[in-house]
Amino acid sequence: MITKCLFPAAGYGTRFLPATKSIPKEMLPIVNKPLIHYGIDEARKAGINEFGFVTGRSKRAIEDYLDYNPEIESSIKGSSKEKLLEDTTKMISESTFTYVRQKQMKGLGHAILTGEALIGKNPFAVILADDLCEGDVLSQMVKLYNKFKCSIVAIEEVPKEDTSKYGVIAGKEIENGVFMIHDMVEKPEPKNAPSNLAIIGRYILTPDIFDILRDTKPGKGGEIQITDALLHQAKKGMVLGYKFKGKRFDCGSVDGFVEATNYFYKKFYL
Ligand code: G1P
Repeated sequence: MITKCLFPAAGYGTRFLPATKSIPKEMLPIVNKPLIHYGIDEARKAGINEFGFVTGRSKRAIEDYLDYNPEIESSIKGSSKEKLLEDTTKMISESTFTYVRQKQMKGLGHAILTGEALIGKNPFAVILADDLCEGDVLSQMVKLYNKFKCSIVAIEEVPKEDTSKYGVIAGKEIENGVFMIHDMVEKPEPKNAPSNLAIIGRYILTPDIFDILRDTKPGKGGEIQITDALLHQAKKGMVLGYKFKGKRFDCGSVDGFVEATNYFYKKFYL
């Protein structure tokens, strides 16, 4: 059973400066809901209600957001605005949230290893909140995990010229959209990419990944890469790539952020 989800959320979000000078990038709203809230909703749909956050300096707004705010709640009580907070209050009451700080920025693999204290010896999900997904991607992955019981990464075809923005896999398709991975490279130049199947920010990881991460040397950009640890895991056992059904918005880029804003505005408000 996957009951826990880890959100690496220590990054500075420099692409969104000056907004991210004092607001965590995970708190930037798509219409009226912060990115992190979309991620939590997706995980809750997959049956998860224990959330761990790997945060850093200037990220306290995340903790405040995921707690009751009695002052606001009482000031809107009985008014038409009460319904604006209803779902959020329910989400808070049904979930637990724990936090650990990543003191140094040493890459996504290091962030996930820092989260070990919150996860323990359980298989767990990872969501990178700036990849905003539509279509219950994590639910699809949990279903697949229940069948194969191994680490899984969500993948999507990207234009070949974009491979240097992603971890890229190569694998053998064992069933429709499910690839047994035999190679993985972090942010390869197009000419060195083993395919155009890019990893997006949804993972299910088995807990042996922590021991592997402890022994993983810094890779691309001098950082400890989850991609390198997963390749090691794939060579020892099995890691799957899953071509999810749904839509992903790269909200770490201005174009993707605007695209997601228009999409959710049309979906919920027009
Ligand atoms: C991270 C991972 C990369 C993955 C990407 C998905 O990179 O290192 O393998 O493809 O997330 O969003 P980042 O975007 O944090 O640089």
